[in-house]
Amino acid sequence: MTETSATVRAYDVDAAAYAANGAVMPDSVRRDVEAFARLLGPGARVLEIGSGGGRDARLLEELGLRVRRTDVTPGFVDLLRADGHDADLLDPLTDDLGSPEGAYDAVWANASLLHVAREDLPTVLARLAEVCRAGGLLRVSVKEGDGDGWSTHGSISRPRHFTYWRAGPLADVVAGAGWSDVEVTHQPGTKGAESWLEVAAVREAGA
Ligand SMILES: C[S@@+](CC[C@H](N)C(=O)[O-])C[C@H]1O[C@@H](n2cnc3c(N)ncnc32)[C@H](O)[C@@H]1O
Repeated sequence: MTETSATVRAYDVDAAAYAANGAVMPDSVRRDVEAFARLLGPGARVLEIGSGGGRDARLLEELGLRVRRTDVTPGFVDLLRADGHDADLLDPLTDDLGSPEGAYDAVWANASLLHVAREDLPTVLARLAEVCRAGGLLRVSVKEGDGDGWSTHGSISRPRHFTYWRAGPLADVVAGAGWSDVEVTHQPGTKGAESWLEVAAVREAGA
């Protein structure tokens, strides 16, 4: 089993528990969602990578955006569909990310691309840029740190593989993948938890 398939399997086994425990949105994520929606305006189309239990998509839609929910974990896609939403099983590294409706206005990937191997993140970010319109927005969050490794915590009982990033290298990878105006913000973890890096960027024109 690869790191990716073992991580997907870990989520799959405990998808319902993850969705239930993660249903309450942290204030920092709420602020980001609200700022993102304000910048985009009502009706904008968002591709979400790693929708999980659907918490962020729910608020994005309440704020007037249109969201394509996707996840690489079948259990999450099943839960989203059971909640009455369209959702697609999709690996951003290998699957077609395009839409018959044309380019997206933005991409939202909260705490999902932290499971992409370091060497694959440039490819994933470039594939996301390809399906986003010029001037469209990117929001990504990953865990801050060095190296990569397995961790077992929270409502997922099996180990998951994480790739940790530092701000400088992460900004370079995003900028090299067709995104401009790259900002990486440090978000301290609460109660001794790991800290996060939040990426904001704009799709380059003509990239
Ligand atoms: C920590 S959860 C975050 C879920 C949701 N975005 C949230 O903030 O609650 C990680 C998400 O990334 C997805 N994921 C796992 N491996 C992935 C990969 N290689 N590429 C993209 N997403 C992945 C999982 O299925 C899960 O939805």
